[in-house]
Amino acid sequence: MDDITVTPADELVRRHAQPGRTLLAILHAIQDETGFIPPETVVPLAKALNLSRAEVHGVITYYHHFRTSPPAAVTVQLCRAEACRSMGSETLAQHVESSTGCRFAQQHGHGHDHPQEQEGASLLALESVYCLGQCALSPTMTINGTLHAKVTPQKFDALLAAAMASIDGAREVA
Ligand code: FES
Repeated sequence: MDDITVTPADELVRRHAQPGRTLLAILHAIQDETGFIPPETVVPLAKALNLSRAEVHGVITYYHHFRTSPPAAVTVQLCRAEACRSMGSETLAQHVESSTGCRFAQQHGHGHDHPQEQEGASLLALESVYCLGQCALSPTMTINGTLHAKVTPQKFDALLAAAMASIDGAREVA
């Protein structure tokens, strides 16, 4: 009798771990599909690529891009690099934190340090990024991937309210 259980994680890996694909490419594909890298995929990934679990885990945690829990419903990325700093991004950051009651994750090159992530999927995540390529339009931020330029505290309040409203609307439809 075949008692090998195929889990959703196995299926996910099977779909994306095609011959010739690197671990990085597979991880990108998985995250594109699910929004994060489920921790259960580490074992099947290691098997598929003939790597150790530690090697797979090491790659996932090294690259900041990869996350291991579902993303927040709304993710705000505020640019904290030089041009935006000179145009008030730090004052804006303080406003964002005080008005939302959330704090920006510290990001130092690798690892996942999203405070909301530790609690699983949440409503709002604040992330610092360093240059969104629109320095002439500082200060900049993205909300769920959409770029916003010359953001003031008032503009942020309106943008966040709109983002939250669209989520509420989506939940009502669902
Ligand atoms: S420094 Fe903020 S967009 Fe370049």
